[in-house]
Amino acid sequence: MANRSTVSRAAIALLLGLLIAIPTGVKSIGVCYGMQGNNLPQPSAVVNLYKSKSIKAMRLYDPNQAALQALKSSNIQLILDVPKTALQSLASNASAANDWVQENVKAYSTGVSFKYITVGNEVIPGDQARYVLPAMRNIYSALSSAGLQNQIKVSTAVATSVLGVSYPPSNGSFSSDALTYLSPIVKFLASNGAPLLVNVYPYFSYVHNQNTIKIEYALFTSPGTVVTDGQYKYQNLFDAIVDAVYAALEKVGGSNVAIVVSESGWPSAGGTAATINNAKTYNQNLINHVGQGTPRRPGKAIETYIFEMFNENQKHPAVEQNFGLFYPSMQAVYSINFT
Ligand SMILES: *[C@@H]1O[C@H](CO)[C@@H](O)[C@H](O)[C@H]1NC(C)=O
Ligand SMILES: *[C@@H]1O[C@H](CO)[C@@H](O)[C@H](O)[C@H]1NC(C)=O
Repeated sequence: MANRSTVSRAAIALLLGLLIAIPTGVKSIGVCYGMQGNNLPQPSAVVNLYKSKSIKAMRLYDPNQAALQALKSSNIQLILDVPKTALQSLASNASAANDWVQENVKAYSTGVSFKYITVGNEVIPGDQARYVLPAMRNIYSALSSAGLQNQIKVSTAVATSVLGVSYPPSNGSFSSDALTYLSPIVKFLASNGAPLLVNVYPYFSYVHNQNTIKIEYALFTSPGTVVTDGQYKYQNLFDAIVDAVYAALEKVGGSNVAIVVSESGWPSAGGTAATINNAKTYNQNLINHVGQGTPRRPGKAIETYIFEMFNENQKHPAVEQNFGLFYPSMQAVYSINFT
């Protein structure tokens, strides 16, 4: 018979172990670094700004060599996009994919912590969609040749417009147009243990549905449950959108495919409900929330990238110019705490 104090010490150790294992404290926050501005700081200054704000991860939309150089030995984890213009060539030409990986990944892989290569951003469905999976396969093979296929995962980033049904969340399913491309892509992701990257914008859902969605639901400030979907209760729109994509994945054999939120944000100017106060509220609440997971995946921290680092003055329409956490001067638009 075990003596009491042994049992309770074991129980306490177990309890501590559980507390340590609970992922609610995990912060998996990155920030997207878009460069569509003619007044942005040098990449080396930008990397220093990430470090000084304790931002641990970055998404880069193309393999900008100065940015990759600056990231060397920064300890910042990186999502690197394959830009749309390269998709056709990488899809049809294995040696072009090999060159792309050698020049943009292998050349930096001892210093830069590449996490995902994103083959195309929001190109499914559409006229470039057919290139995505073949390019993913060629990039995967090229990473394998470089011995990097286990540490760097290959994926693609989709907008939530790939959903044909998004409400209630458990009814989420891909539209038939998107499904044509996503069905084999989801199989590829599942067999490689890679996540699907999803750009999630409660802001645009709210703006386009102001009659039915209250802003509190979009800003994570509702005091209680807003949507009950069977056993799942939703207090914020972000979770409802992410879970609709999880439900859609489950319907096409992707139950084990995780979602990484590759963009989410709120504009501080230039559109409906686009104020500094709302942008700060959304982004700070997002940072504070994602460690908890969603009702469908409770406790599973969602790796999330805020869109975006800087206001970009060459984007259109105007609302798209104002998602930045920082002005090009590197002054904060509003204060945000990443830690
Ligand atoms: C394939 O890519 C290689 C390397 O970039 C290039 O030299 C070759 O011309 C390309 N082939 C075709 C058919 O485009
Ligand atoms: C959701 O799916 C269920 C089961 O297929 C169906 O009965 C229900 O009508 C759907 N709800 C909506 C709002 O479409």
